[in-house]
Amino acid sequence: MFLESGAFLIAFAGGGAVEAADAVAQGRALAGQHCAKCHAIGRTDESLHDEAPPFRRLHERYPIATLGEAFAEGIVVGHKDMPAFEFSPAEIEALLGYIESLGPKRRR
Ligand code: HEC
Repeated sequence: MFLESGAFLIAFAGGGAVEAADAVAQGRALAGQHCAKCHAIGRTDESLHDEAPPFRRLHERYPIATLGEAFAEGIVVGHKDMPAFEFSPAEIEALLGYIESLGPKRRR
């Protein structure tokens, strides 16, 4: 985890656009920190909370991009057991990028 956030900080300090791969790594770190105690956040793990959908299946419900608004408003999306989160736009982008990366890769 240190390595991942370190890579992100370096990309950021460089002043250039954050590389997509770094954003995905940051999203994975955020998911691990905030979401993994209920949701499956990987490709094969099971959700620890019975009702929490694995992140890799979210794209079957709706385009991942549409989650952005819900996140920006402090995720309430049907989370009865879930604490409210507040993320910065960059963090939301990273999180969505990560969740998106779990979906089917149809682009070439
Ligand atoms: C304390 C447990 C818990 C944590 C932590 C948690 N969730 Fe959830 N989440 C749930 C549960 C339970 C559901 C299913 C709620 C339902 O269907 O009523 C859910 C559903 C969702 C859904 C689908 C909502 C829908 O309406 O389809 C999304 C997206 C989601 N969570 C994102 C996240 C993200 C992103 C994080 C971390 C920032 C997170 N969750 C952290 C318990 C949690």
